[in-house]
Amino acid sequence: MTIAESIHRILSQDDLVTDLFYLTYFERYPDLSVQFDGVDMEQQAVVLRMSLTVIHQYYEHGYPAAEQFLLVLGHKHHLRNIPKDLYADWRDCMLDTLERYFEHEWHAKLEEEWTAAINKATDVMCRGYEEFALTGSKKT
Ligand code: HEM
Repeated sequence: MTIAESIHRILSQDDLVTDLFYLTYFERYPDLSVQFDGVDMEQQAVVLRMSLTVIHQYYEHGYPAAEQFLLVLGHKHHLRNIPKDLYADWRDCMLDTLERYFEHEWHAKLEEEWTAAINKATDVMCRGYEEFALTGSKKT
């Protein structure tokens, strides 16, 4: 299975890999659940699943549109006061979740690809902490 095939599967199935992600994440980091106070986690799992597509698109094709999305997303996390140093644990938790989700189809090369894809995306998200994504959104 390639990263493209894995994202195809993630998007095609009814169940949300991201439900499993948040279960694992809050089990590991119970203190972080306060960051999500008032957030509808069912909806959050839906939007997080689609953001995995953007992570994949940016990794595979480097689309400017995907980069801008990630800048905006990073900026939103900045406004939510999410420290940048949480991203490495987030990535590792996502990798473990994907491994559990794909079971025997998961392999080292796929893990390498997802690691590189998430790192590339979080680099942009972190840039979004300093930059506005679109010039039109800059305040004068
Ligand atoms: C690569 C890493 C991450 C990705 C791709 C991601 C993705 C997303 C997406 C797509 C949203 C929805 C934004 C919107 O509705 O406008 C979101 C919101 C949010 N994320 Fe993340 N996230 C990441 C890391 C983190 C981390 C490390 C935390 C900290 C624990 C976090 C906490 C939140 C919170 C609190 C919200 C707000 C939810 C709301 O207001 O409804 N995220 N994230």
